[in-house]
Formats: sequence, C-alpha cells, structure tokens
Amino acid sequence: MKPDLLEEVQRLIDTLESHPDPAVREAVTALLQGVDAVHRTALTHLVNAIRGMAGDAFVNRLAGDPAVRLLLMSYELLAVDRRVLAEEALDAVRGHLHDHGIDVELVDVVGGAVYVRLHGLRDSGPDLEAVRHDVEEALRTGLLGFQELVLGDRATPGPVLLQVGLRRAQRPVYRRACGTADVAPGRMTAVDVEGQPILIANVEGEIHAVTNRCGDTPLPLQFGTLDGAELRCSWHGCRYDVRTGKRLDGGAEHLAVLPVAIEDDEIRVAVGVEPAVGR
Ligand code: FES
Repeated sequence: MKPDLLEEVQRLIDTLESHPDPAVREAVTALLQGVDAVHRTALTHLVNAIRGMAGDAFVNRLAGDPAVRLLLMSYELLAVDRRVLAEEALDAVRGHLHDHGIDVELVDVVGGAVYVRLHGLRDSGPDLEAVRHDVEEALRTGLLGFQELVLGDRATPGPVLLQVGLRRAQRPVYRRACGTADVAPGRMTAVDVEGQPILIANVEGEIHAVTNRCGDTPLPLQFGTLDGAELRCSWHGCRYDVRTGKRLDGGAEHLAVLPVAIEDDEIRVAVGVEPAVGR
C-alpha cells in the first residue's frame, strides 16, 4: 500500500466534492456517507471487542502494520500524533548520529514536511548530506506520508529558522541508566529509566541503548543473545543491529535507539526532551 494513499483519497474526494455539477456533488456525498456508515460501525465494534479482549497494547501492536494503522487512523480509531510518529522514526537514527556528537531535534511536522534542527555538525564528522540522507531514510521508513525534510544548520540557515519562534527549541534529557562496570563488552543489561524499559549493550567497548521490547510486541529483548552488534531475540529469533536499531532478518520493525552519554563511570541515556535554556 502506498504510504500517501490516504492523502490521495482525500484529494480525490475534495475534487469530487467541489465538482461544478450539484447533482454530482450530492451523489458523491451520499456515496461517502453510505460507505462510511457501512464500515465505521462494524470497524468500531471490532476494535472495541479486540481492545476488550486483548487490551490497548494488542491494538497498538496490530497498528504496527502500516495498512492496519492507516485504516484505524482514517476512522479516528487510533490517535494520530504525527510529532510522536516522527520522533519515533528519528529515534532509529539518533543513536548512530549521537555517536558522532550530532543531535537531531524535531521542530515540527506539517503535512508531509518534517522540520528538524541538527546540532553538533563538525568538519571532522559526517557531512551534512550524509546526515540528511540518514535522517530522510529514517523518516521514509518510520513516518507514513513523509515527503520532505526541511533543515537548517549553522552555516546555511534554511526555512526551519522561520519556525523557531513558533516552538521552543528542545534538548535531550539524560538520566542515569547504570554504571559502566555493569555492562561488560559483549554483554547486555536491562534497566528501567523513568519507567522506560531500556536495554544497554556493550559492543566491543561502545555502549548503545535501545528500547527493551521486540518490535511492536511487549516482549523484552534482555533474554536474547548479543553477537558483535547483532542482537537475537530469544522469543522467535528476530535479529537487530543494536547500533542502528535496524531489523537484520528482513522485517520492517526497528528498535528505538536512544542517545547515550558516558560520564564519571556512569551510562546516561536520553529518555526525553526539555526546553533549551536561552532560546
Ligand atoms: S518477540 Fe522477538 S522475535 Fe518474536
């Protein structure tokens, strides 16, 4: 299914609803109301029944399938927060970029356009185009309807700077996860940081943090095995790269990768954002 199918359908409806012939407009309205009535009632009952039997977590798991998510969103049976979806998509690339000292700050999501700020770009690190490519790939994979990345950097301020006055800039909030001695090379440790289940992995001395849940399931990854950067889930064998969160065995799911900072023998993980001071 094309990710922007919903937008296409909406465009077609708009075209027909503004047709110059009033009879056509009336027929289109009646048709849409009929289709909506047939589907909405049954779908609402179905989702409520699933929710009642298996809970919200299971519905969220079903919604991990883009086709199911699109259908539920189109009938307002699933909250649509495109900023949250964009943040989740960006999490897939944040850990990797953070290793190069780069933070990605989401500024806004307007339709298919995602506005971000990049912090920490240096001459010695990945160049702007490489970072842009990585961020675009993450958004294309994780955000339905993504069309355009708009960013500004220190040297070439882009349209994003026009957005700054609308929303306060934010920065990551780091919290202690565990001590560096708690995760030997080649090992993993499960931690809970402010209610978030997180898995800390030591890949040949490099520390990485991912969400401690396999794909869209609630099942933890801590019982899996780590071989280099490859994490193999103990439940059904899914394999992920803990550096990028990417699924390695062909599935579409990815793990959210969290920025990590090492300070005074402590491993600290960014679990949220807060307004940046002085902006
Ligand atoms: S829960 Fe991880 S592979 Fe099925």
